Amino acid sequence: MSPFALTRTLPDDATAAALRADVSAGLTAESKWLPPKWFYDARGSELFEEITQLPEYYPTRAEREILAARAPAIAAATGARTLVELGSGSSEKTRLLLDALPDLAAYVPVDVSGSALESAGNALLAERPGLTVHALVADFQQVLALPTTPGPRLVVFLGGTIGNLLPAERAGFLAAVRALLAPGDALLLGTDLVKEEETLLAAYDDAAGVTAEFNKNVLSVLNRELGADFDPADFTHVAHWDREREWIEMRLRATSALTVKIPALDLAVSFAAGEELRTEVSAKFRRAGVAAELSTAGLDLRHWWTDDAERFALSLATPVAP
Ligand code: SAH
Ligand code: AVI
Repeated sequence: MSPFALTRTLPDDATAAALRADVSAGLTAESKWLPPKWFYDARGSELFEEITQLPEYYPTRAEREILAARAPAIAAATGARTLVELGSGSSEKTRLLLDALPDLAAYVPVDVSGSALESAGNALLAERPGLTVHALVADFQQVLALPTTPGPRLVVFLGGTIGNLLPAERAGFLAAVRALLAPGDALLLGTDLVKEEETLLAAYDDAAGVTAEFNKNVLSVLNRELGADFDPADFTHVAHWDREREWIEMRLRATSALTVKIPALDLAVSFAAGEELRTEVSAKFRRAGVAAELSTAGLDLRHWWTDDAERFALSLATPVAP
C-alpha cells in the first residue's frame, strides 16, 4: 500500500443528495433544525480548529491532558496495529496515540471533510515518513467499509463528537461500531462531562465570536451548495444549556421576520422574528450513562480516565462476546 491513500467512499452526488434531504426535512419541520455535520466544509473545519485554541473551550485541552497521561496504558491494553479514527479532523491529539503505539502498521482517519483529511494526512506523513495512512472520506453514521489492515484494531472517537449525535443516533452508532470490532479490538471514546452551566455556556459562546462564526458557517454552506440566499447578518448565535437533557444546543435566531429562498429545493422557508433554528446538540455525560450506553451496544467499559479537573473523560471499551 502507498503511504497515503485517500478514498471517497461515497460519490459526490450522494453527499449532495444527503444535504438536500437533511435541509428539506429540517427546515420544513415545525421546530427547525439541521444536522451538525454540515458545518464542516473547509472553512468550518478551520473554524473548529480555531475554537480548540480558545480560552473558553476546555474540551480539547482536557482530552489532550488525558491522552498525554494515558497513551502508554492505552497502548499496553490494546496492542493496536491499526488505529481507526472517526471524525478525525486535524488528527492533532491523535499524535499522542500514534507515538505511543510501538507496533502500529496503519492509521485510518475517517471524516466527512476531505480538506481536513488531506491536510492532516500530508502533515502526518511529513513528520512520520514510515506511517501508512489510509484516509476515508465517509459519514461515520453510515456503514463503513474499512480497508484491510493488520489487527488488533483500536477505533477512536475523540473530541466529544459522540455528544453531537441525538440519543437514538448514538445507540445506532455504537451498535455499528461494535459490529466493526473483532475479539481483541477496542473502542476509545471521548466524552465531555456535565459541569456548571457557566463554564459550558462560555465554551459555546466565546468572547471573540469564533463559535458564532462557526455556527453561521452552515448558512454559507447552504448558500453555496443549494443557491440559498441566507444573510448570516439576519441571525444571531445562541448557546442554550438544556438542564433536563444535559446538552448544549447551538441555535441561530432570526432577528426579524424573513423568508429565505432555496432554489435547489424549490423551497421558500419563512422565519418569524425571534424564531430559532437548532444547528447542533452537544451532550454532556456522566460515567454511569456512558457505561450503560456502551453496554446496550455490546461493549464493556474497561477503563475510565478523566483529566485532573474532571471536565472530560476517555473510556476504553471492548466488545462483549455475542
Ligand atoms: N476529532 C477531532 C475533530 C472533532 S470536530 C478533535 O477531537 O479535535 C468533529 C469532526 O467530525 C470534524 O472533523 C467533522 O468534519 C467530523 N464529522 C462530523 N460529522 C461527521 C460525520 N457524520 N461523519 C464523518 N465525520 C464527521
Ligand atoms: C466536534 N464537537 C465535539 C464540538 C462540540 O463541542 O460539540 C463542536 C463544537 N460546537 C461548538 N463548538 C465546538
